[in-house]
Amino acid sequence: MAVPHVLIFPLPLQGPVNCMLKLAELLCLHQETHVTFINTEYIHQRLLNYTDVLIRFAKYPNFKFVTVPDGLPEDNPRNGDQIGKIIEGVEKVSSPLFREMVMMTTTTCLIVDGIFTFAVDIAKEAKIPLLYFDTISPCAIWTYLAVPKLIEDGEIPFKGNDLDALVNSVSGMEGVMRRRDLPSYCRATDLDIPIIQHVIKQGKHIVQAQALILNTFEALEGPILSQFRALCPNIYAIGPLHTQLKAKLASQSLPTSNSLWKEDMSCIDWLNKQPNKSVLFVSIGSLATMSKAQFLEFWYGLVNSKTNFLWVQRPGSIIGLEDDDINVPMELVESTKERGCIVSWAPQEEVLAHPSIGGFLTHCGWNSTLESIVEGVPMICWPYFVDQQVNSRYVAEVWKLGLDMKDVCDRATIERMVIEVMDVKKIEFLERAKQMSNLAIASVGEGGASYQDLERLIEDIRLMRI
Ligand code: UDX
Repeated sequence: MAVPHVLIFPLPLQGPVNCMLKLAELLCLHQETHVTFINTEYIHQRLLNYTDVLIRFAKYPNFKFVTVPDGLPEDNPRNGDQIGKIIEGVEKVSSPLFREMVMMTTTTCLIVDGIFTFAVDIAKEAKIPLLYFDTISPCAIWTYLAVPKLIEDGEIPFKGNDLDALVNSVSGMEGVMRRRDLPSYCRATDLDIPIIQHVIKQGKHIVQAQALILNTFEALEGPILSQFRALCPNIYAIGPLHTQLKAKLASQSLPTSNSLWKEDMSCIDWLNKQPNKSVLFVSIGSLATMSKAQFLEFWYGLVNSKTNFLWVQRPGSIIGLEDDDINVPMELVESTKERGCIVSWAPQEEVLAHPSIGGFLTHCGWNSTLESIVEGVPMICWPYFVDQQVNSRYVAEVWKLGLDMKDVCDRATIERMVIEVMDVKKIEFLERAKQMSNLAIASVGEGGASYQDLERLIEDIRLMRI
C-alpha cells in the first residue's frame, strides 16, 4: 500500500492557516503520514518573519512546506474587504499550480478549505480522496448551505428593513436566527454578488467530497452535527484543534504561534500585575476593521466602564488612522495609563489562558471563539462579517456564554455590556463558561468524541482510496 501523503491547502488567511497548521502537526505526530503544506508566498513570508514555524516543523521529517503565488499585488492589504479578491486570486493563479502538484506528486489524499470548489475536479482527475476542512463554525456553514433555500423561500433579499424578524428557512435554527444573525452577505440587495455565488457553489461541491473535517466538538454543536451527517455522512469533528494539539504535545508544552504579526510579549508582564479575572481582552482578529468614530466609541466605552483592559490595535485595523492622526482626548490617554495596555498583536492563546483575564470583547472569528470557550472566558461579541454574525448569536443566545453587541457601536452600550460581563453577571457567566470549557477539554482527552474522530481520521487517511 502507498505511503499516506496528505496535501493540505488552507485559505490564505490567519484563521484558516493557523487551524490547518495545527491539523498538519497532529498528522505529522503519526510518523507514518507524510504531509505537504501549501502556503501562499505572502503568508509563508509572514510566518517566517514572526514565528518559529520552520524550527517547529523541522522535527518532523515527514513534513514539507511548498509555496504558490496568490495573484495579488504586493501592496494589497489582504484584509476583510479583500476577501473576494483573495478567493479569486487562489482560483485563478494558485489552483493551476495546486493541480500540477497533485498530478506530479505521490499525494494520496487532499485536505483543502471548504471554499476551494476547484478541488473537486482535481481530486476526481487524480483519483484521490478529497476531504474538505471548513475551518469556520458548523453553525455558520449550516447557514451558508441554507442560502439556496433562503432565496427559494423569498427570505433573502429581505423584504423591508426589520432586521429583528425571525428567519424560518434554516432548519434547526427556527426561533433562534433573526435576519441580523445570518451571515453578513445575506443583507445584500443584489444576490448576484461574488460572495453569494461562491457560497452557493460551495454548497454543491461540499457534498461531493469523501468527508468533511470540522473544528468543533459534539457537546457544543451536537444538533448541528447531526444535521450535517444527514448531508455528508462522513464527518470528523476534531475540535477544538488547538486544545487537541496541546494535549498531544503535553510533554513539550512550550507556547507556539502561527501569527502573521509580531507578538508583543510585554502584555504578559502587564497581565501578571493585574488581579485575577479583572482584565477584559479586546481584539477584532486579523481581518476586521473599524472606523475612526467607532474606535473612539470603543475607547470611551472601555474607559467609562472602569475595567482593566488589554486592547489589540492591529496595524491597519482602524481605517485611515495611519494617514491621518486623530486627536485622542487626553482623558482617554490618562485613563488608559491607569488601567489599560495597548499592543499591536498579542499572543492570544496565552493571553486568554492568563488568570487575569475575565472577559473577551471579540469579533467572534471562529478560532477566537473556540480559544475563549476552551479557557472559560465569557465574551462580548462585536461581529464584523460573514460567519461572525452567526457565531455571535450562538455565543449569546444558544450557549449563553456572553452578550451579542452586533450592529451597535456606541460608548454607552459598550460600557453597559462590559460592566455586565465583568461585574454584575460575572459569576454567572464565568460558571457557564467553565462548564463549557470542561466539556471542550474532555472532548479532546483520551476517549472523548473529538479525540476519537481524530484517531479515525488518521486511520482513514492511511486506508482511504476512492
Ligand atoms: C477569519 C474570519 O474573519 C473569521 O470570521 C473566520 O471565522 C475565520 O477566519 P480571523 O479574523 O483571522 O478570522 O479570526 P479568528 O478565526 O478568530 O482567528 C484569529 C487568530 O489570530 C486566532 O487564532 C487568534 O489567536 C490569533 N490572534 C489574534 C493572535 O494570535 N493575536 C492577536 O492579537 C489577535
